Order: sequence, then structure tokens, then C-alpha cells
Amino acid sequence: MKKILLIAFLMCAVSASAENIRLPEPEKTGGMTLLESLTLRRTEREFADKDFNIQELSNLLYSAGGVNRPEGMLVYPVGMGVQDTKIYVIMREGVYEYNPQAHSLEQIEYGDHRSECNPHNEIAGKASVNLVYVHDLDAWQKFMTGERPIPKEAAVRMGMFHSGAIMQNVYLFAASQNWNCCVQGSFDNANLRELLKLNENQTITLLHSVGVKP
Ligand SMILES: Cc1cc2nc3c(=O)[nH]c(=O)nc-3n(C[C@H](O)[C@H](O)[C@H](O)COP(=O)(O)O)c2cc1C
Repeated sequence: MKKILLIAFLMCAVSASAENIRLPEPEKTGGMTLLESLTLRRTEREFADKDFNIQELSNLLYSAGGVNRPEGMLVYPVGMGVQDTKIYVIMREGVYEYNPQAHSLEQIEYGDHRSECNPHNEIAGKASVNLVYVHDLDAWQKFMTGERPIPKEAAVRMGMFHSGAIMQNVYLFAASQNWNCCVQGSFDNANLRELLKLNENQTITLLHSVGVKP
């Protein structure tokens, strides 16, 4: 039933373009306390065969890396104000890039590619949603030239912190929803890069599988 509702909602949400999903406003109040979420946070690798509804998806992406101020700043802090980390979503319906400023999903690929994230285990294949965090060196271009250029390794290092912050946001939000999740540093890098159509300046940092408890 939930799956039918999600598909119906996704179809309604597609407005100007068939490629984009406008997410509903995230719910920003309620839920358990931060201390309760911290206490419940843990890695779990089993998931029920259930999809999130569109409101749950909206809340998850907002918590992961949404905009929390009118100036466009994010729920996690970013070095030098450079928003260099993209969040991709791989779920039953397809593959999307999250646009935090528009709070929307831009479609990259149709179909269910979850099990291709890592063919060596079933974690991602069974998760409701797989989030892929991608560091984009191009976001640093204007800081890497000029009189006092930022070295490439510093830009890459900042990106690793950003992915870590997103990861913990997702862990805490999942705990608060009584969902399961597992972050993964091992994944099928070549396959995912192709699926997400990444360029040479973009690096996958983590795969984060999130889903309903079995
Ligand atoms: C950077 C990072 C990479 C990880 N990579 C994997 C992975 O590839 N596969 C996996 O099953 N778990 C992975 N984990 C999950 C850890 O195994 C898990 O966090 C650890 O056992 C501690 O358990 P806890 O999260 O319940 O505290 C990773 C965790 C982190 C922080």
C-alpha cells in the first residue's frame, strides 16, 4: 500500500518536468530528543521490503543535507562556505540527485539499481533508500587559483568532513524514526560512478543505506 502511495505521490509531484520531483516541506518539529537519538544510534544491516513515502523521503533528505536558513546555508557546517558535497538517491523508482536549494530530486536514471551499489552483499539492495555522498572538487575551483590558492588536498579534506557530518545527521535521524541504516565505505565504485554519471573531479565518499526495520 505504502509503495502504491509513494508512486502515486511521485507522479503527482512531477510538475514542470518529468525528470524532477518537488519534495513536500520537511517536518521540522516533533520527534524524539537529540539525546534519545544519540543513545539509539547504531548500525543495522537488515531492512524490510518497504519504501518510504514522499514525506519521509523529504524529512530524510532535509536531515541529511537540506537548507535550514533563508541564505541557503545547510543543516551541517561547511568549510569556507563551500557546498562541495552532493547527495544522490538510489531507490526502487530510480536514481536522483538531491538539490537542497530547491528541495527537489532531479532524475538521472530510471529503474531499480539498488543491488548494483555493492553486488558482494545485500545491504543496499534491500534498503528503501541508498544515499551516495559525492565530493565535487569543481566547487573549489575559485579558491584553487589566485594569490593564496587552497591546495587540492585541503579541499578534499574539507569534503571528507562534510560527508562525515551528513553521515551522522542521517544516523541520528534514522534512529529518531526507528529505522535501520548502515554507512558503507566499500561499494562498487566503478559501477556507481557510471550510474551517477560522475566526472573526473567527483569522488564517491560513502554509501548510506537506510530503511524500515524488518
Ligand atoms: C567510514 C565508515 C565506513 C564503514 N564502512 C562499512 C562497510 O563498508 N560495510 C559495513 O557493513 N559497515 C560499514 N561501516 C559501519 C561500521 O562497521 C559500524 O559503524 C561499526 O561497526 C560500529 O557500529 P555502530 O555504528 O553500530 O556503532 C562503516 C562505518 C564508517 C564510519
